Amino acid sequence: MVRDIVVYPDKRLKQISKEVVNFDEKLHRLLDDMYDTMVAKNGVGLAAIQIDIPLRVLIINIPIESESDDPALQQPRENTLEVINPVLLEADGKTKYQEGCLSIPGYFEDVQRYSRVKVEYQDRYGEKFIIEDDAFLAIALQHEMDHLEGRLFIEKLSIIKRKKFEKEWKKRRRSGS
Ligand code: CO
Repeated sequence: MVRDIVVYPDKRLKQISKEVVNFDEKLHRLLDDMYDTMVAKNGVGLAAIQIDIPLRVLIINIPIESESDDPALQQPRENTLEVINPVLLEADGKTKYQEGCLSIPGYFEDVQRYSRVKVEYQDRYGEKFIIEDDAFLAIALQHEMDHLEGRLFIEKLSIIKRKKFEKEWKKRRRSGS
């Protein structure tokens, strides 16, 4: 089921998400709804807080090359990385990547991140895993993990870029586009 996305500057995005303790049917439904929502909005990642559920849950699904525009083929459900209670074990290097966020639709800007991360997390059944990446997944993990701490990528912009963003965002919201 597609759920509503909480959009900036909604204060709910600033909450610090809580640890998941029950790996039950309710969590599985949340994860399934997060996938439906992410795909419906053309996203590659989503944190639970973005659909107003302050739990340490995030998903990432990097589109695969496909002839079709069908999201079900580009981002098959079984390719979804479901990350629960992630902990950053290692991070190093520096890289810049143009990021966007479903909670700040239509805005994209370069952000500096670690180029490599190693993260421990649990899957939907509570089983522990470790994932390591030095490409796009590393960026996505950092972006989504920031959501769990109530942080957005625009907080990493320079003061000048942030001011410009706020001005544009206000104008856009006033015009309702
Ligand atoms: Co985001």
